[in-house]
Amino acid sequence: MSCDIVLGGQWGDEGKAKIIDFLSKDYDIICRFQGGANAGHTVVAGGKKFVFHLIPSGILYPGKICVLGNGLVIDLSSLTDEIKYLESQNISFSDRLKISTLAHVVLPYHILLDKARENKSSNKIGTTHRGIGPAYTDKFLRCGIRIADLLNPDKLEEKIKESIYEKKVLFQNAYSGQSIPEPSVVCETILKLFEPLKKYAIHTPYFLNTSIRQNKSVLMEGAQGAGLDIDFGSYPYVTSSNTTCGGAVTGSGVGLKNFSNIIGVFKAYITRVGGGRLPTALEENNMKVLREAGGEYGATTGRPRNCGWFDGVQAKYAVIINSLTQIALTKIDIFDQYKKIYFCRAYKIKGKETSEFPSSIEDFTNADPVYMEFDGWESPIAGITDYKKLPDTAKKYLDFIQEYTGCPVGIVSTGPGREDTLLCS
Ligand code: IMP
Repeated sequence: MSCDIVLGGQWGDEGKAKIIDFLSKDYDIICRFQGGANAGHTVVAGGKKFVFHLIPSGILYPGKICVLGNGLVIDLSSLTDEIKYLESQNISFSDRLKISTLAHVVLPYHILLDKARENKSSNKIGTTHRGIGPAYTDKFLRCGIRIADLLNPDKLEEKIKESIYEKKVLFQNAYSGQSIPEPSVVCETILKLFEPLKKYAIHTPYFLNTSIRQNKSVLMEGAQGAGLDIDFGSYPYVTSSNTTCGGAVTGSGVGLKNFSNIIGVFKAYITRVGGGRLPTALEENNMKVLREAGGEYGATTGRPRNCGWFDGVQAKYAVIINSLTQIALTKIDIFDQYKKIYFCRAYKIKGKETSEFPSSIEDFTNADPVYMEFDGWESPIAGITDYKKLPDTAKKYLDFIQEYTGCPVGIVSTGPGREDTLLCS
């Protein structure tokens, strides 16, 4: 039985949830492996729109088990809201949701710290203000609070006190004396939120590995995208976790030998939200047109996304660092009315052409895109479910993405619904 990964190939918002929802029917378990409520995964099923931040998109399929892996930082308040929403939609899930006891908890002071740093900084990352960076910082400083700590609350207040001590000093001195809640208040709040969630908490590495031994299949669900990876992305304009394939291993406790397919999701164009550059960004008017056509506004923050042409340099890098076995290309229908489509085949940095994604943020900031031009298809593509029936110009664009990146395009999404999806083989 297989264990596969679906992750973002670009800067997040590639339409991963749609692809995961499409594939989920073939898996027994869907496991989120990193990030937190910074993610906004939108699924359209049965004509209804669902937005998930923490719960894997597979929850919409009856019978599928959904795991919040150890690599996550979980905001219990956000999780509670999502659970309430599912209940309001009459989606039953209580025996299908599992939360890792090893996952870290986003505490109220992480969110305050995230906001305070962003407001004060002259070099803003443009975070989602969900406390992600500070929660991962505490994890690596070894003063984080995990789900397991909430199951054994005797020492919880003491641990929070220890973790809060330095932050109090920081808030007083660096962030205009802003006060943060007392440890006893944080402790009480968090335990109250955790009470109804307690029943979902399990030691997920044992659960996942036992399930795999019992021939159950697992789909690992990534959040954000390769360009936002803490190691490989455009540091410092990144998120604080490994969004790439290694994150699926460390964020789940499932070893390398179990994995078969690694599917990278890319949009037919590219978008980015928050700080950091998008080398292929369109000029303002054309960007507005693409943004409106693609509905490119953040699912978590509502922020308008920067939009640009497909960046082949960035995509090829994502293929390499993830060992992608397949590309899923979404939103190709957004180009239906376009006469010409452009593809960035190289960056020009200080007068020199390169097809390598730069490691220095200064080089990345100075990279000018070098484009190739493709003819558009100027006809509606939605509803086509057979690759052979795609217009020749669309096939040419897809074939080139495949050739340039060295990775087959296996899935093409031609619209928001499950049914608007075609397999290329
Ligand atoms: P953080 O993850 O909230 O710390 O934000 C760090 C960077 O990642 C910012 O540029 C965010 O806009 C970006 N980011 C975080 N989550 C997402 C996402 O789900 N989609 C797109 N961008 C994201």
